[in-house]
Amino acid sequence: MRLALLPVLLVAAPALAADGAALFETHCASCHAAVSGAPAGAGPNLGGLMGRAVASDPDYDYSPVLRAARDAGEVWDPATLERFLRDPEAMFPGIWMGGTSLRGDTDRAAIAAYLAGQAP
Ligand code: HEC
Repeated sequence: MRLALLPVLLVAAPALAADGAALFETHCASCHAAVSGAPAGAGPNLGGLMGRAVASDPDYDYSPVLRAARDAGEVWDPATLERFLRDPEAMFPGIWMGGTSLRGDTDRAAIAAYLAGQAP
């Protein structure tokens, strides 16, 4: 019985893990929009995040640590976002966003891929 289920799981798992839109909905959308022109929520709008300077949603009042990163010229790309999501506080001590409930590298990569497809 268990062996019979294994191929099903092996086929289904990557498909589920790669669904960045669903992961975003579950883990991020309560605080973030990711659509061009959407208003900020508890967190800034993440539409067009890749290639965008850190802390650059004009409608959002960022913490000092993120504003300092912007002033230092830091820019978001997929690798930076994945490192950030692993431990936001380690990258930006004093940030107002807590840790995420994402489980692993595959989920973080799927979120990064999803956000890379969201237009500015
Ligand atoms: C409970 C609310 C909350 C959740 C859930 C949350 N965030 Fe945040 N996020 C914030 C807040 C608040 C900030 C602004 C932090 C600051 O100014 O220090 C932020 C900032 C960010 C930034 C920096 C944006 C910029 O303009 O530079 C990114 C990127 C980000 N979040 C991604 C995510 C992703 C991806 C998820 C889901 C895995 C997520 N966040 C989940 C509240 C949240």
